[in-house]
Amino acid sequence: MPQKEAEMFFKSESRYRMLVENSCDIIFSLNMEGYVAYVSPAWKKILGHEPSEVIGHNFKEFVNPEDIPRCENVIIAVIRTNSMQEMTYRVQHVDGSWRWHTARVNRHRDENGVHTLFGTAYDVTERFRFEELMTRTEKMTMISGMAAGMAHEINNPLGAILQHAQNIERRVSADIPANVQAAAEVGVSLDLVHAYMQKRGIFDFIGHIRTAGIKASEIISNMLQFSRRSDAGVEHVNLSAFMDKTLELAGTDYDMKKKYDFHRIELKRIYAADLPPVLLSVAGMEQVLLNILKNAAQALAGGESAQQPRITVTTRVAQGMAVIEIEDNGPGMNEKTRQRIFEPFFTTKEIGVGTGLGLSVAYEIVTKGHHGLIDVRSHPGKGSCFTIKLPLQGGA
Ligand SMILES: Nc1ncnc2c1ncn2[C@@H]1O[C@H](COP(=O)(O)OP(=O)(O)OP(=O)(O)O)[C@@H](O)[C@H]1O
Ligand SMILES: [Mg+2]
Repeated sequence: MPQKEAEMFFKSESRYRMLVENSCDIIFSLNMEGYVAYVSPAWKKILGHEPSEVIGHNFKEFVNPEDIPRCENVIIAVIRTNSMQEMTYRVQHVDGSWRWHTARVNRHRDENGVHTLFGTAYDVTERFRFEELMTRTEKMTMISGMAAGMAHEINNPLGAILQHAQNIERRVSADIPANVQAAAEVGVSLDLVHAYMQKRGIFDFIGHIRTAGIKASEIISNMLQFSRRSDAGVEHVNLSAFMDKTLELAGTDYDMKKKYDFHRIELKRIYAADLPPVLLSVAGMEQVLLNILKNAAQALAGGESAQQPRITVTTRVAQGMAVIEIEDNGPGMNEKTRQRIFEPFFTTKEIGVGTGLGLSVAYEIVTKGHHGLIDVRSHPGKGSCFTIKLPLQGGA
């Protein structure tokens, strides 16, 4: 009889216990000072520690320090309003990584008048990652459209500046007969005009216009990548061999050699033996990988870590995609930086060192040019790891 069975169920403590201990969510109880009185076995499945390593400790030992004040406010609200409240915070996995959890907390007063906090918590990290990815995709579509539009607009006047700087130099050259003739017609000596310009440094100014213009053109041509969908140079390549070639290229780059001591960095390669060929735009993907390697070298050169600087490059196949991972053991980055690194012009480097375009261009090339994915894992002091996933079937 169902009614009777239900009554029996609620009389049995062992069945209650079975419900709690088999819950997929973490069920917990804290005293009013925040010390853990109970956590269900789901804690071990989700976060890796044995419940006995958690019980008796304060919840603050496991929660990210940035999120503790928020949790405390929620707990105060639970106590004050005597009602269930929700909080979202980061909690540390036994492997050191942070997982986002949402918990619903309430207060209970037992027959002796003792108050406890109790609740359930579940992991929302994947949902957050997905939402972050969606927001990033939307934001990037908007920003990159704007950047490409701006680049097109700036390209013409910039071309004119460079062209006219060159014209000025040409118009005072004695090697061009039309100049000599025009000078004679107005009664001036071209040699003297030339000497005057030299003496007053006018040729140097023109040189500066040209160098600055070329630098601006490089930035513009990066921004134009945002609207370019090129199929040029698409080839089937072996990713590991391609990675080796790119590492070799990075090693010969002047900046990498001289400024960032690339040869000092230990390169570790973990290549899958059975990688099928991947269809990609050779020039595009080379640019992506060089950008990431350069960032890693810059991060490793800037850090004061005592450990041997190292870049680990991994290739493998996962879920029908070819995966490249580039990991450094540099200073890593905080959460705020991590969330913004794919935005155009976001940089933490000094003016002249970085324009903040490297990763935004990489993002465009990987996602739009190759229908792939690019993401980063990083924590302060724990290095950074960039992952690129490329579809094994379909085109670049
Ligand atoms: N491996 C890394 N370690 C630590 N921080 C990184 C790493 N890679 C990127 N970053 C951060 O991401 C920011 C953006 O990188 P991005 O490559 O887009 O621009 P940039 O390197 O600053 O400038 P540019 O690439 O245009 O020279 C960097 O300024 C840095 O703060
Ligand atoms: Mg860069």
